[in-house]
Amino acid sequence: MRWKVAILTASDKGSRGEREDTSAQVIRELVEEELGGNIVDYRIVPDEQDEIMAALIEMTGYYEADLVLTTGGTGLGPRDITPEATLKVIEREVPGISETMRSSTMSRTRRAMLSRGVSGIRGRTLIINLPGNPKGVHECLMAVIDQLPHALAIVS
Ligand code: MTE
Repeated sequence: MRWKVAILTASDKGSRGEREDTSAQVIRELVEEELGGNIVDYRIVPDEQDEIMAALIEMTGYYEADLVLTTGGTGLGPRDITPEATLKVIEREVPGISETMRSSTMSRTRRAMLSRGVSGIRGRTLIINLPGNPKGVHECLMAVIDQLPHALAIVS
């Protein structure tokens, strides 16, 4: 069985079509090649809490994704709201995933400490926040991907 994975990009510029979404392409590649997953839904929303929450709820409820990977909106900027939106829709946090992404990528860039991303479970779906830039997405996802099949098997 291949995992059902949804990708949510939170980006004001991306949602206006002003920026190519290379981060989502990196996620898609890693999901298909390293995790053995199928992308069941993909969308870009602006950095608005309500829109991020609505997308997460639909991805978990309607599309029944096993895993939702978000990218962007985890930093310290005034519009960065992805962690707050995620915390509002999850029932239980899985802090170790986000802790590992930050700590094990710090040797590559100390900016890793500036991502406030969270991870958690909503129903039978695991939701993980990744940072916005493609390099960060690659580093952070690769830091935890070996444990995702086991995590998803338990959650879904
Ligand atoms: N983590 C890793 N591993 N690699 C990176 O390049 N970029 C950082 C950080 N986390 C980065 C990273 C930067 S520069 C920022 S501003 C924060 O993630 C938040 O990014 P976001 O607001 O685009 O989500």
